[in-house]
Amino acid sequence: MPAASNSEYAIEVRNLDAHYGERQILKNISLDIRHGEIMVIMGGSGSGKSTLLRHLLGLNTPTRGSITLLDKDITKSSEREIFDLRKKMGVAFQDGALFGSMTVEENVILPLFEHTRLDENTMRIMGRMKLEVVNLAGFEHLRPSELSGGMIKRTALARAIVMDPRLLFFDEPSAGLDPVAAVELDELILRLREVMNITIVVVTHELESAFKIADRITVLDQGVILMTDTVDAVRNSDNPRIQSLLNRLPRDDAIDADEYMERLTGI
Ligand SMILES: Nc1ncnc2c1ncn2[C@@H]1O[C@H](COP(=O)(O)OP(=O)(O)OP(=O)(O)O)[C@@H](O)[C@H]1O
Ligand SMILES: [Mg+2]
Repeated sequence: MPAASNSEYAIEVRNLDAHYGERQILKNISLDIRHGEIMVIMGGSGSGKSTLLRHLLGLNTPTRGSITLLDKDITKSSEREIFDLRKKMGVAFQDGALFGSMTVEENVILPLFEHTRLDENTMRIMGRMKLEVVNLAGFEHLRPSELSGGMIKRTALARAIVMDPRLLFFDEPSAGLDPVAAVELDELILRLREVMNITIVVVTHELESAFKIADRITVLDQGVILMTDTVDAVRNSDNPRIQSLLNRLPRDDAIDADEYMERLTGI
């Protein structure tokens, strides 16, 4: 097999270790994500999914290893370089992270205020185009408190794509949505990739959603990658830990002592 050229992957993670204090959360994570691919990061609660996402976004610094986004190693980049890179990255957080005092439209065009010098009219037009994409045309003047859960997620998605990013990160897109809204959001993610050809990283523990949207799935378990492969390969894996995750069986071994103590003592 020929050596992979730098540009084959939109995201390259090499030998990443991550800690919170003394405690190691991610262990020797290596992961390549191709341009235009939808990669789903799956794993049980506490497996380190959000921590990995925070590292990919440059919000946390790894204790070891490298993270290369669009050919730039962010572990060796200046804050200025990371700021510039962020213009090419969209993020939709789990709870939407919308500002309650702003309208849908104002929330969506916020990144344009931060990163461009466009005049406000142009920004509003760009915002409306993206609201159209997420099927929220006509709702631009509502405030987040007036939106359903699915509409909040779609607003967050419109904001994430308002700068036409090359990389899109999504934390738990369908969590907390009713099944119909969840399916709609999955379809929206698939459409986005088709229309905008974005590389998309989705963190989820919703199996159905993962199987529907993923080109490949990475399974995290206690900070370690068990497998990165196609949907079919993951589904048919005979790894017992993957099977127990797919069948939602409780872990019968390796209870995390720290977490157990935290649960008992409530801290
Ligand atoms: N800010 C923090 N400080 C200390 N420990 C943390 C912090 N954030 C997460 N952790 C710990 O790191 C581990 C991984 O957490 P993380 O949030 O990455 O898991 P997750 O896979 O996203 O879980 P979930 O599915 O519940 O969202 C957990 O044991 C958690 O308690
Ligand atoms: Mg999480």
